[in-house]
Amino acid sequence: MSVNQPHGGKLIQRIDLLQTADLSLKNVELDNLELSDLELIANGGYSPLQGFMGKADYDSVVMKMRLANGIPWSIPITLAIDKVKATELAIGEKINLVSNGTVYGVMKVEDMYIPDKKLEAEMVYRTTDLAHPGVKKLFDRNPVYIGGPITLINLPEKGQFEAYHLTPKQTRKIFSEMGWKTVVGFQTRNPVHRAHEYIQKSALELVDGLFLNPLVGETKSDDIPSEIRMKSYQVLLENYYPKHRVFMSVFPAAMRYAGPREAIFHAIVRKNFGCTHFIVGRDHAGVGNYYGTYDAQTIFSYYSKDELGIQPLFFEHSFYCKKCENMASEKTCPHDKQHHVILSGTKVRGMLKNGELPPKEFSRPEVIEILIEGMQEVYIKDLRV
Ligand code: ADX
Repeated sequence: MSVNQPHGGKLIQRIDLLQTADLSLKNVELDNLELSDLELIANGGYSPLQGFMGKADYDSVVMKMRLANGIPWSIPITLAIDKVKATELAIGEKINLVSNGTVYGVMKVEDMYIPDKKLEAEMVYRTTDLAHPGVKKLFDRNPVYIGGPITLINLPEKGQFEAYHLTPKQTRKIFSEMGWKTVVGFQTRNPVHRAHEYIQKSALELVDGLFLNPLVGETKSDDIPSEIRMKSYQVLLENYYPKHRVFMSVFPAAMRYAGPREAIFHAIVRKNFGCTHFIVGRDHAGVGNYYGTYDAQTIFSYYSKDELGIQPLFFEHSFYCKKCENMASEKTCPHDKQHHVILSGTKVRGMLKNGELPPKEFSRPEVIEILIEGMQEVYIKDLRV
């Protein structure tokens, strides 16, 4: 066995592209988050899920961070409908899952329930504050959830990332062909700066391969758009990474910004893509000040190592130290903070929009060039609106 076992033991495959849409079925409209979840359930990224969660799994995930059968799972994967649609649908009915006029999947409605969103927010996001983008999204969604097994009958558009849009089955095959027995997964929704590069390469010293798996699903509006990020990853891989040790494909899921809970979810999904290890640095999947710097690391002790089945690799807040003349963290650097190059995301985004160069100790010049060009375009677009 050269790659990791899927979560739950079997890679779920629920894709049937030969099936034609039955237009006599009722339609349920999916939003972008649900459409990306549909795809990841179908291609096994969310194994062992076979569909959107029914009440038993949902309650158990919210309260115990486990599916009803006890398998670790930290984020509810749900399909939300409005009250009118809820009165039209019956348990046991087959429905079409539709987005922008295309039927992407079918689902057997096995369950219909009204979630306690306040409880979901408290348990999953650790806050009910609507300023939190994940919580806002949760409360904006429709009030009734339906669950049941799905089949994907049309692949969602892969857009401009087509070449990088791979299924877990494909990445597992690639890792095997590369001869990698151990693979570390890296989740990101940001450009890869020197700190990211440092923790990736530190991890790569310990394992055979690095799986760079940037999230390209829905993100909050002030995150750097995925088209710009993808260009920056390409130029970085081209110039600073050994080709036979790194593989990149995209993660189409939406960002939840659920911090600790999302770190567990990110690790489990990367296990399904074939990773044996997963990087968790500072404030993983966090936003604002809702989570402690290392909450997304400590949460891993909730599960035994065996039941999670993927080894997290924890990294402290990393930075460039002018005295060390090197990347470092508090663990490895004895110097005072004044020697450390640390810039917040907000500060960097501001600099990029103004065409200012963040220092090369913070980010590779090739990356900065792409970000400045891209962000100025975005800024100009903003101004035109
Ligand atoms: S995330 O929301 O997708 O987690 P981001 O792209 O910023 O955000 O981070 C990707 C990974 O790198 C996460 O594991 C995060 O904890 C880690 N990370 C980001 N910046 C640093 C840093 N300066 N030091 C250590 N880890 C970091």
